[in-house]
Amino acid sequence: MNLKERCPILNFSDLGDERGKLVVIEGGQDIPFDIQRVFYIYGSDDTIVRGQHANRRSHFVLINVAGQSKVRITDGKEEFVVDLDRPMMGVYIPPMIWKDMYAFSPDSVLLCLASTHYDGSEYIRDYQEYLKEMQ
Ligand code: TYD
Repeated sequence: MNLKERCPILNFSDLGDERGKLVVIEGGQDIPFDIQRVFYIYGSDDTIVRGQHANRRSHFVLINVAGQSKVRITDGKEEFVVDLDRPMMGVYIPPMIWKDMYAFSPDSVLLCLASTHYDGSEYIRDYQEYLKEMQ
């Protein structure tokens, strides 16, 4: 499987009606893991790069529920960029994938769904170390 196949774009169903939009994401159904943790990033701007790490165990889905950002995804060999610009789409990022989030619009709210509780020891934050492990 190539990197884009391992990190697919997920398009969620819109259950909205004349009253407005409604997007539902059920763990294990709309995304390929049970959700243990939710966090969101806002107040970043277009000078900021976040992420810059890989996770040994955690699976993530990233969704811009408001505004826009980009995420650069790499396994050290292939790389691609996803424009997160719609609340109805996200990207799935499995373990051991390096990710950089950037180009945040002023109104960006980047929702992150994770398969684990936070454990700082499962983060690889040194890109050279990551590349070494991926060889
Ligand atoms: P960091 O991983 O640098 O954020 P990002 O990936 O968005 O750039 O996290 C910033 C700080 O917040 C760091 O001290 C760890 C802490 N943190 C938690 O305690 N729990 C969490 O779920 C996350 C994502 C971060």
